[in-house]
Amino acid sequence: MQDRLLIEASDLAAGYDGTPAISGITFSLRSGQRLALLGSNGGGKTTLLRAVLGELRVFGGTLRVSAACGTVPQTERSRLDYPVSALDVATMGALAALPWWRRPGRREREAAGRALERVGLGSLAGETFGRLSGGQRQRVLIARALVRDAGVLLLDEPFSGLDRPSGERLEALIGELTSEGRGVVIATHDLEQARACDLVLCIAGRQIACGPPDEVLADVGVLEATYGGAIVELPGGGGRAILPPHHHHH
Ligand SMILES: Nc1ncnc2c1ncn2[C@@H]1O[C@H](COP(=O)(O)OP(=O)(O)O)[C@@H](O)[C@H]1O
Ligand SMILES: [Mg+2]
Repeated sequence: MQDRLLIEASDLAAGYDGTPAISGITFSLRSGQRLALLGSNGGGKTTLLRAVLGELRVFGGTLRVSAACGTVPQTERSRLDYPVSALDVATMGALAALPWWRRPGRREREAAGRALERVGLGSLAGETFGRLSGGQRQRVLIARALVRDAGVLLLDEPFSGLDRPSGERLEALIGELTSEGRGVVIATHDLEQARACDLVLCIAGRQIACGPPDEVLADVGVLEATYGGAIVELPGGGGRAILPPHHHHH
């Protein structure tokens, strides 16, 4: 069970309308593994996550996803004006497993309540989703994935905009999820974060590298190809860092 293959991509190309936005993507994710997806803005991180979710057209190569996926999208892309509670959102995780004519009922709401407890939000179950903090909303979406019993979690820049305690809390939760055999993919700008993962995949439209962090991150050529000019040498031998991303909206 620990070694179950969850995602397998081979020379995958995927994108929008007529053109692939990403290509040459080859990786596998196994049960219990954490994969960091590194790339500058527009590099194709979100595109790859959406391809895994089956939302985009595959132009070439193969992509096999053999587990239910739960997703936590980039915060700025969530609708916050819907009058739904945290419990409602977590309960939606049950929809995929229900026959089409059934609405979630008491059993599903109880499962959602337990999942919210588990992510530390039991007391906020009745709060309006859009009024929660960014970190709390992410944990509600993780609860939704738990209700779904997702074998894979896809987190799109989950640490951007989180304060330190929220980040540490999320980190601990991710550790729990992988130790129970789930696979986690984290799109991130944080090299330290990536260092703590089992695998790092660097993407700049095409795949630049994929492998264990001590190999991939030690290669300056890989980082330069991934980030272009945005990578800087810190003064006083402080190592390398990435300039803060400029956020743009689509
Ligand atoms: N809905 C869309 N339709 C067409 N092109 C898109 C869409 N979303 C993203 N793209 C393009 O795909 C490329 C990769 O974007 P994205 O996956 O969002 O990168 P990242 O998440 O790494 O910032 C960019 O060139 C972007 O403009
Ligand atoms: Mg993105």
